[in-house]
Amino acid sequence: MSRAELSVFIRSLGVHAPDRKLTNTELSAMVETSDEWIKSRSGISERRIAGAGENPSDMGAQAAAKALARAGLTPADIDLLIVATMTPDVPFPSTACLLQAKLGLRRDIPCFDISAACSGFVYALQVGTDMLRSGNYRRALVIGAEKLSSVVDWQDRATCVLFGDGAGAAILETTATPDVGVLGNLLGADGVNAELLHCVAGGSAQPASEQTLRDRQHFLRMNGKEVFKLAVRVMADSCERVLKGCGKHSDDVAWFIPHQANIRIVEAVADQLQVGLDRFPINLDRYGNTSAASIPLALEEAWTAGRIKHGDLVLLVAFGAGLTWGATLLRWHEPSP
Ligand SMILES: CC(C)(COP(=O)(O)OP(=O)(O)OC[C@H]1O[C@@H](n2cnc3c(N)ncnc32)[C@H](O)[C@@H]1OP(=O)(O)O)[C@@H](O)C(=O)NCCC(=O)NCCS
Repeated sequence: MSRAELSVFIRSLGVHAPDRKLTNTELSAMVETSDEWIKSRSGISERRIAGAGENPSDMGAQAAAKALARAGLTPADIDLLIVATMTPDVPFPSTACLLQAKLGLRRDIPCFDISAACSGFVYALQVGTDMLRSGNYRRALVIGAEKLSSVVDWQDRATCVLFGDGAGAAILETTATPDVGVLGNLLGADGVNAELLHCVAGGSAQPASEQTLRDRQHFLRMNGKEVFKLAVRVMADSCERVLKGCGKHSDDVAWFIPHQANIRIVEAVADQLQVGLDRFPINLDRYGNTSAASIPLALEEAWTAGRIKHGDLVLLVAFGAGLTWGATLLRWHEPSP
């Protein structure tokens, strides 16, 4: 079958969130903040925090095992693994290779990470889709897995209240059924704005030293106001461009699954698109911003709740450090058993 004839769809999803919940009230005892401030500025009530030994490869493997079990598949059925993460277990090897071993995937398949921060899952979904469309692979695991609690500065109230840990996994599969699964996408980046949301030390430019530790340079730093404005503009614009490219309109979309960073960002995007907020499934109140894990966590929740149905148009849209952004339009497909 030629590349043009193959459709790629999400056959199954699975998620993992650490048991430990950190509430806004608990945070108020750690930094000068309040439940009221965090809720009103971000919509977040609590987030999950991974324990020691609960790393992105562990959380991702758990999420993937659930996705496999739901689809009645085994690790041997997977031909390709892509992990999106900005908090890899270690600088190298990739979290994907560690996860491959933990999950017992075949020992000859390609496994690699994608670094696109909060847009990581949308990036990985598109790379996986294009690799499957090449006809060289039948099934891919695409995972977003993050342990933001390890890069957040727990003394910086402007950022530590916003982030959380978790993982979500999607199994992509090819089908000859036309016009299902991924219908269109858009990915973008603007490195000129890299410093709006970044981590200065810990890479090869500034390896760990006593000085970088003293200066707290291993933690995430953000210009929240600027990020907010760009996020709204770029997410709304990405949705419009993908829809236009596919000959669709926002009215055709059953569900918008936005990156779950801040309810006010989602509200502003919905407003710009002139779409009711009821078509934007939200779970950031319970998870915070889990970066690359956020879209699969929200998508899985909407899917398992029975909100997303066969034939629905679903639009995923993300924005993150880089800056990066991306959107994917899917026609939801539930293959007959
Ligand atoms: C971070 C964010 C919630 C801040 O909201 P905001 O309305 O812009 O608030 P400001 O930054 O103007 O801060 C207002 C005040 O609250 C204070 N403040 C910041 N964090 C606080 C906290 N956790 N608790 C209490 N006060 C806080 C600030 O110090 C500031 O005080 P000042 O006026 O005395 O200087 C908001 O900018 C945001 O969500 N940005 C996008 C972040 C994001 O989603 N990033 C990830 C993208 S993938």
